[in-house]
Amino acid sequence: MGVAVGVEGLTKTFGRQVIWEDVSLTLPAGEISVLLGPSGTGKSVFLKTLVGLLRPDRGSIWINDQDLPTLSERKLYEIRRLFGVLFQDGALFGSMNIYDNVAFPLREHTRKSEAQVREVVAEKLDMVGLNGAEHKLPGEISGGMRKRAGLARALVLDPEIILFDEPDSGLDPVRTAYLNQLIIDLNQQTGATFLIVTHDINTARTVPDNIGLLHHGHLAMFGPREMLLSSTEPVVRQFLNAQRVGPIGMSEEKDETELAAEAESGEELGPLPPIPVQLQPSNRKPRDAQREPGRWCAENNIEPPAGSFR
Ligand SMILES: Nc1ncnc2c1ncn2[C@@H]1O[C@H](COP(=O)(O)OP(=O)(O)OP(=O)(O)O)[C@@H](O)[C@H]1O
Ligand SMILES: [Mg+2]
Repeated sequence: MGVAVGVEGLTKTFGRQVIWEDVSLTLPAGEISVLLGPSGTGKSVFLKTLVGLLRPDRGSIWINDQDLPTLSERKLYEIRRLFGVLFQDGALFGSMNIYDNVAFPLREHTRKSEAQVREVVAEKLDMVGLNGAEHKLPGEISGGMRKRAGLARALVLDPEIILFDEPDSGLDPVRTAYLNQLIIDLNQQTGATFLIVTHDINTARTVPDNIGLLHHGHLAMFGPREMLLSSTEPVVRQFLNAQRVGPIGMSEEKDETELAAEAESGEELGPLPPIPVQLQPSNRKPRDAQREPGRWCAENNIEPPAGSFR
């Protein structure tokens, strides 16, 4: 079963540039969370900070009662083994074939024999549907296959927490649908805690249990999918419904004149669309960490938008 990650008052700067400040959220154990935000708001920096590749300026990251930013390099190295990371570009070694790429963390971090390595690599390649591609180089397979190879490598040490940085970028809609199903199925099989950075609104609306939105150096909101999808907070609403109307402009925040002109033009947002049903595991058995559809709405006395749940 995955472990919870508790983030408290986290702030990251590079020199004078504040990337984000005072970010607090909890990734619930075993659940799938999605992190959204305009380009350049520091989503990749957030993932790298979680795994300890970047040190925050302030704040805590709690995992199993340990506060990561206070740990020594040695302790941090140990705790990193709890993480599997799928980096934005797949980060495969170009000169190694798929088999050796996936085997790399096992050879590096464990004392498994080559026979044991072979067994684990075969199992993970099977999980992501890449059997038969072992001997190909990363440059010889498609982008979608490279993503899956990166995913097999992220899974190889049986991580408790898996971070995905734009697993669906550059994939066609059908491949994205397959990948999303794979993510749901992997969450069911591994029970690990997932955090997915994506720009795909359909993924954000249908895959996660929780959604967070980074905007303008702050975490605008984090909570159950149903909460954000039914939110009328302007930034959340604009982003999750992919609209031009709202505080986010083409290059950055709209200023007051622009917002006033927008209000003047009478362009309106229309009603919120219904909340779509969450993607289910392909074997139709519920995931351990899955909330009952609509439970959050019921608990919080929120009427789910019409037609949203089966
Ligand atoms: N190692 C670094 N040193 C200095 N600045 C950095 C470093 N890494 C990232 N940045 C800056 O931090 C900001 C956020 O970058 P980041 O890559 O996290 O954005 P992002 O939200 O992942 O964007 P995208 O959606 O385009 O992937 C950018 O302005 C970037 O230039
Ligand atoms: Mg990024």
